[in-house]
Amino acid sequence: MPAILDLPPELEPVQAAIGRALLRVHERFDRQLRSDLPAVSRLVRHIESYRGKMLRPTLVLACGLAARECPGLRTEDSALSPQPSSLLSDAHTTLAAVVEMIHMATLVHDDVLDESQVRRRGRTVNGLHGNESAVILGDYLIASAYHLCSQLDSQRTALLVAHISMTLCAGELLQLSRRADFSLDEETYFEIIRRKTASLVALSCRLGAEASGADEGLARRFERFGEKVGAAFQIQDDLLDLTGRQAALGKPVGQDIAKGKLTLPIIHHLAAATPAERGRSLLLIERASAETPDVDAAAALVPRLAATGSVAHSRSTAETLVAEAKAELAPIADSAAKRLLLTMADAVVTRSA
Ligand code: FPP
Ligand code: MG
Repeated sequence: MPAILDLPPELEPVQAAIGRALLRVHERFDRQLRSDLPAVSRLVRHIESYRGKMLRPTLVLACGLAARECPGLRTEDSALSPQPSSLLSDAHTTLAAVVEMIHMATLVHDDVLDESQVRRRGRTVNGLHGNESAVILGDYLIASAYHLCSQLDSQRTALLVAHISMTLCAGELLQLSRRADFSLDEETYFEIIRRKTASLVALSCRLGAEASGADEGLARRFERFGEKVGAAFQIQDDLLDLTGRQAALGKPVGQDIAKGKLTLPIIHHLAAATPAERGRSLLLIERASAETPDVDAAAALVPRLAATGSVAHSRSTAETLVAEAKAELAPIADSAAKRLLLTMADAVVTRSA
């Protein structure tokens, strides 16, 4: 993610250190997934082309660096070093690869559920190789993530990763159970995004900090930062699905509504509209989520969402979450890594891709 950020020159050294660490993460990721079977390697190569913003591994590394500079660490070696990269351990590299692998597994499975054909400007695994291969590739990624976890000194990471994997699946099952349910309320929407997205972002932040020796109080602070940033990220994703442009997003717009997924702008709109306006919007939503989705109906919804202030409401909800996330880091020691985290948090709601 820092690669796409417009950073002040003072943050370039920390960005470069994270960039170097991400190369080690890529290497570990690729080595773990390597197979002697061409049928497997072909799919793994496809996954490598999926790599996007690397938000979660970057958070592991940046939180690892920021925690290193806080007082009260459990380890003896918390002294500041002029070279941030030397403060990142081999465990940080493994943890960053683990969270990216779990994330990739969720995307591969999510594209099967959503019948998505395009992601990050390329064909999805299911689009190119069919659902069967995509399901098993997702399983291969999950198994590989646990294989990596088992190489760590303690079982704690495996326990936390297992817990979050269950949370992700539960969030996805809750979402599935409420597809095309026009009575979905904001509370349930927040429960879904907390589980399906925020939980893994929060874990990434916790794992990075813990690997730097953070005590429970400090690790929890980084985790809360991640939970809020993760929720804001999903709200922005949901907003862009309605208001974004395909060229910037690298995937078609209107996919959520086509699958009957009600997101914050729609939920707010249906609650805020007059009964007559609500009725007209429901007709459009039905057309946009029909067996053959009507893309014009999805586009026609956008000005209606704006008219009830639902776009503004979603944007300000995401901005409030980002402000709360940044406030979590206020008490921790100032450092370049902390400032990078604050800049990343802001970018979550200003991004258009
Ligand atoms: C993307 O949502 C999907 C997720 C954040 C989570 C998906 C989780 C699963 C499919 C459960 C599988 C779990 C494991 C451990 C393999 P989206 O469809 O709103 O976003 P998109 O626009 O990127 O598709
Ligand atoms: Mg999807």
